[in-house]
Amino acid sequence: MSGKVDLKGKDILHGNQFSKEEVVAILNVASELENELKNRNSLDILKGKLLATLFFEPSTRTRLSFEAAMARLGGSVISMASAESSSAAKGETVADTARTVDQYADVIVIRHPRIGSAKEAADAATVPVLNAGDGAGQHPTQALLDIYTIQKEIGRLDNLNIALVGDLKNGRTVHALVEVLSLYKPKFLFVSPAVLRMPEEIILNLRNKGIDVSETEDLKKASSECDLIYMTRIQKERFSDMSEYERVKGFYVINDDFIRGLTKKLVILHPLPRVDEISTGVDSYAGAAYFRQVRNGVFVRMALLSMVLGKR
Ligand code: NCD
Repeated sequence: MSGKVDLKGKDILHGNQFSKEEVVAILNVASELENELKNRNSLDILKGKLLATLFFEPSTRTRLSFEAAMARLGGSVISMASAESSSAAKGETVADTARTVDQYADVIVIRHPRIGSAKEAADAATVPVLNAGDGAGQHPTQALLDIYTIQKEIGRLDNLNIALVGDLKNGRTVHALVEVLSLYKPKFLFVSPAVLRMPEEIILNLRNKGIDVSETEDLKKASSECDLIYMTRIQKERFSDMSEYERVKGFYVINDDFIRGLTKKLVILHPLPRVDEISTGVDSYAGAAYFRQVRNGVFVRMALLSMVLGKR
């Protein structure tokens, strides 16, 4: 690993916080750990260390993959699985909760419905805090596992034509992913209904970095122009007006017909859960990589936990 990169004690909060050297180092450590796990079920890199997972919003993959990652590294986990079961239900602030858990654990993973909440937790805690999703804000560990998957599926990261499709307004995975990918000179095509466009601030920020960004409502354009489609769920829980959700739900669907119409192989990723935007018939398509993407989450989160705890 490059001598310059040291994530010990660092928080992981935002897709824009990484240098390219750091991303490369994280991907390399993930790959090393994936290899080390080929012949054994677990390692002892984080033996004696304790991870606390604080989930104030629903989660299947993010929480379980962090917990699996910690267990595979020989560490242990304490978990607060719902807001209702914690003192948040009594009105405790995120900062006080983080300060409390800081007394118990060596590293904290937090998901919360409010933008900026992970930063508040990180400011209150002395141990590293990893943002597992702050409302419609950021989801940086997902971005890293997405990039690890792209590298494995396509064989490179530089100069890719990438379509991001669906709820670009509320999707925190895409907000984080474009930040990290912008280190690799991509060409982005943002595909969304007009009401769910990528926030203007993110687009401006990308253009300022010299990234080529275009926008369309037309999914067909993505299949003809891009190497990769990153599909997302319309984020129902972020709509204040349910009639607006009803208007845009089901806007894009990748189904067997769509796959049959492809003229070249396309890699399809999705952070999951899917609702109806990718039909199950597509799962057997060679480019459908979303369940491999799920598995990669464990290796990337192992890398992050080891690195922020100074063990890699
Ligand atoms: C995503 C999330 O929670 O932001 N899921 C995940 O972490 N894999 C995407 C979503 O909920 O649509």
